[in-house]
Amino acid sequence: MYHHEPVLLKEVLEWLNVKENKIYVDGTVGLGGHSSAILEASKPSGILYGFEWNEDSFKIAQERLKKYGSRVKLFNKNFIFIKEILQKEGILADGILLDLGISSFLLEGSKRGFSFQKDEPLDMRINLSINLTAKDILNNYDFVSLCSVFKKGEVPKADKFAKFICEKRKKKTFETTKDLVKAIKEFYKTSKKDLLAVVFQSLRIEVNRELENLEIALKEFPDVLKSSGRIVIISFHSLEDRIVKTFFKSDPRIKVLTKKPITPSEEEIKRNPRARSAKMRVGEKI
Ligand SMILES: C[S@@+](CC[C@H](N)C(=O)[O-])C[C@H]1O[C@@H](n2cnc3c(N)ncnc32)[C@H](O)[C@@H]1O
Repeated sequence: MYHHEPVLLKEVLEWLNVKENKIYVDGTVGLGGHSSAILEASKPSGILYGFEWNEDSFKIAQERLKKYGSRVKLFNKNFIFIKEILQKEGILADGILLDLGISSFLLEGSKRGFSFQKDEPLDMRINLSINLTAKDILNNYDFVSLCSVFKKGEVPKADKFAKFICEKRKKKTFETTKDLVKAIKEFYKTSKKDLLAVVFQSLRIEVNRELENLEIALKEFPDVLKSSGRIVIISFHSLEDRIVKTFFKSDPRIKVLTKKPITPSEEEIKRNPRARSAKMRVGEKI
């Protein structure tokens, strides 16, 4: 049985202002944790439009949410298509949620090389139609491009590490997560988990164009929200949080409801350590 504990669940329901009979969008359905809570809280006839890009997560969520029948409409699509689909359906939403990043399921059960704790092919595609893998980046990007991937991902000593990778791959190409972990440990002379995580994350962000997708989607959300509709975004690293904060501040159609981000309680972090870096920001359509 696959599991992913939804982060800040109570806070999401409260800040999305979930009420019966309204229309909500979950742009990152995952295994359906937040989605099912939204459907429960908007009974008896609230509607949820759900988007999940990963094929396997989508299938699991479809199965889990089917008991809600016609109240739920799921799309195996990137959340950048939210505006297009809502406009096609001719509806405006009362709230949109993004719970960014990847799930415990993708880390532990996808076999796509997201985790530095597994030995898997260096893939990292959330969706298999993406035509770039982590392996392509490590073996084929020239020094300048590789350096910019690491810099963008705030990897320490990005240029020297990129140079090191370019030298390494001349002897043997990078194939698996184990190859990458070995190179990181050799270069930085440490096995610190935070460092391994930041290098892996920088590649994942590049493969899936995560920051670009977030920017594209955010700009369109006010177009598909009712007046007083809410945008709730949970991010897990500063690169995403900065984009959300800047967008909320700069878009004249949005009133910022959270001056400081909402973070999980100590009790939640104890129960679910993955929640520790979560930051939730909320904006309201004017
Ligand atoms: C942190 S998980 C969400 C977990 C979910 N809230 C739950 O309670 O189960 C993020 C999910 O977003 C998906 N995802 C990432 N980028 C996406 C995108 N651009 N469009 C749609 N889904 C995306 C991932 O595949 C992953 O399943």
